[in-house]
Amino acid sequence: MAIAPHAPTASIARFADAQALARADMVEVDALIRARLASDVVLINQIAEHIIGGGGKRLRPMLVLLAAQAAGYSGRGHGVAHHVRLAAVVEFIHTATLLHDDVVDESDLRRGRKTANALWGNAASVLVGDFLYSRSFQMMVEADDMRVMRILADTTNQISEGEVLQLLNIHNPDTDEAAYLRVIERKTAVLFAAATRLGGLVAGVPAAQEEALARYGMNLGFAFQIADDVLDYVSDAGTLGKNIGDDLAEGKATLPLIYAIERAAPAQAASLKRAIETGGLDSLDNIVAAIRDSGALERARHKAQHYADEAKAALSTLPQSAARDALAALAGYALQRDH
Ligand code: IPE
Ligand code: IPE
Ligand code: MG
Ligand code: MG
Repeated sequence: MAIAPHAPTASIARFADAQALARADMVEVDALIRARLASDVVLINQIAEHIIGGGGKRLRPMLVLLAAQAAGYSGRGHGVAHHVRLAAVVEFIHTATLLHDDVVDESDLRRGRKTANALWGNAASVLVGDFLYSRSFQMMVEADDMRVMRILADTTNQISEGEVLQLLNIHNPDTDEAAYLRVIERKTAVLFAAATRLGGLVAGVPAAQEEALARYGMNLGFAFQIADDVLDYVSDAGTLGKNIGDDLAEGKATLPLIYAIERAAPAQAASLKRAIETGGLDSLDNIVAAIRDSGALERARHKAQHYADEAKAALSTLPQSAARDALAALAGYALQRDH
């Protein structure tokens, strides 16, 4: 799955095309994000700047922008365009969840930098995560559209449910595929779905097209999280910008591990289950070997491919456009990406 530097695969090159199509709007999104990070509380500025300045792929705001374009939104009037504002809101929500997630997961590397919790501690990270959440609420109110507020209120609420559901599954060796899918739908896919739905909403497309965009986003979100969970076993920290093995270390049964347990010989399955119960990285090499031997990585990638295909299929009801092609390309990228 790792991709050699300087030898981009076709879908990575097309990710660059998708980025290029969104670039002009993304410059405005970045400016808005910077402007709205501001607080006269210095620690908020420091921590928010640390995580936002770390970059990130800006995938979710890109989805808002490209979905709006694919839906025919022109968006130029006075003040901040709706799709730009909502793209920034979605990235604020995402960033807030990352600050909280790294506390919960006890992670110490994010976007190639030490995490905020590693540098400033858990309390500061949680509180600044709350600042970003509530700032995103202020900004969504400025959109002055009750449907936008309902979509984003429901989405943030479901993300919290997903994270709590996941917490309940920690150290549970009997976590199965259905339970895993329930978690990733809420913790990841619903925000992707909200991003693309909002793009359609600002453009005022008919309900069927808005649903199609949401279905695209939801399926892409599933594909993206499954790919992330594969990368946690096969990448390296330098490429990924996050530590690998984090999921196993905290006793989180993600799809590669779940599939390995299903297919491994009894003795190996028992040792995989023990690893979920105890967590820790003592046996990471053995576990990775067992996961590889069982064919679980291929099976998980295949599942991600299924969702990516569903995402692409959902786009067929939209008129042909460069933005629609870019969205289709992102479905390929979600699987091929190396970070
Ligand atoms: C990380 O999301 C959290 C997951 C849903 C796996 P991204 O991989 O989009 O993180 P950044 O924003 O690019 O850092
Ligand atoms: C994604 O889960 C976190 C959220 C969607 C809130 P992960 O725990 O897999 O994300 P990473 O791997 O830390 O980015
Ligand atoms: Mg995490
Ligand atoms: Mg992960």
